[in-house]
Amino acid sequence: MSVAGAPGAIGPEALAERLAAFPRAGLGTFPTPLERWDRLAGQLGLGDRLLAKREDLSGLAFGGNKVRQLDLLLGDALAQGADTIVHGGALQSNYCRMLAAACARLGLDCQLVLSRAYGQPDDQGNVLLDLLAGATVHTIDGPLGADHEAVKARLAERLRERGRRPYLITYPRSETLGTVAFVEAALETLAQCDDPAGPTGGRRPELLVTAAVGSAQAGYLLGSRALGWELRVRGIAPLGAEYPVAETIAAAAGAAAELLGLPRALVARADVDNSAAHVGGGYAVPTPEGLAAIRRVARAEGVFLDPVYTGKAMAALIADAEAGALAREHERVLFLHTGGNVALFAYAPQLLDDLRAADGALLRPL
Ligand SMILES: Cc1ncc(COP(=O)(O)O)c(C=O)c1O
Repeated sequence: MSVAGAPGAIGPEALAERLAAFPRAGLGTFPTPLERWDRLAGQLGLGDRLLAKREDLSGLAFGGNKVRQLDLLLGDALAQGADTIVHGGALQSNYCRMLAAACARLGLDCQLVLSRAYGQPDDQGNVLLDLLAGATVHTIDGPLGADHEAVKARLAERLRERGRRPYLITYPRSETLGTVAFVEAALETLAQCDDPAGPTGGRRPELLVTAAVGSAQAGYLLGSRALGWELRVRGIAPLGAEYPVAETIAAAAGAAAELLGLPRALVARADVDNSAAHVGGGYAVPTPEGLAAIRRVARAEGVFLDPVYTGKAMAALIADAEAGALAREHERVLFLHTGGNVALFAYAPQLLDDLRAADGALLRPL
């Protein structure tokens, strides 16, 4: 079947049926809320046309975009009979924090390899929660990349030799299933947007802005096209241009299309709009604009972003809105809040400097 006006689109019922075939671990609280952010929209001249999809409220371990992905990935791991999960990231990885909690909930052993290369504290924020949830935390001094992946693979091998059944979370399987999870997010979001009693009054957003290196952008791109929803997706990379983000996203969309029985051509490389212009000094290095965006959203909407991903994505949205270059006239803009706010506590010095510069004295003795 095809949906009128959109070659390759199959519509919501058929897509939901294909998604239902994947094994799940039963994690998270869905649908996540869709909200209107009218106060921030007013400041940016967007009227009532700014929406937020709250993946930060996905219901496990302070939430975030990985909960949806872990539901499928750990569903895959359980279906394969795994008893141990091996993964890793930076010391303040949001993914690993949600994974540690998910493993605790599912009775799986969690083995993490965390990199100290990004100047992040080791007694705060995400890593503190990893330890609280009972994960075994191994550290390396080198950065993320091929060497880190090799250390993860060797750890999995050692565990296998000791009679364990490890499931190694690694590229491209993690990216592909993560993208399938965000195809489902697109389906969920469209139902919320099409609801005449919902926050959009039944009108679909035309532009989505998100922090992105892979699955969320790939999934929304593929999902929207499969649904015949004309949505532009603007990804804001938290990494420098040396990492091939757009290629990764295009490849993930293609691989997920194949798993879902959709045409690979639904998402072309040219459809992937991902910008590294807001990274600043590099991955996990806060920018003044990102810190200001965190403060602005906290004060306009009572919502907390993070310095590594969502703050930089919101800084891009704000800069474009203020330059009149965000959306076309009358378009609705959807900001995907991917979570990460636990990392705020690991960046207290930088956040306090930003607050002092904005407000002067912070704590005022009476
Ligand atoms: C808060 C936050 N936002 C965005 C991302 C990027 O997600 P994705 O891999 O789906 O692009 C991550 C993790 O990498 C994250 O922790």
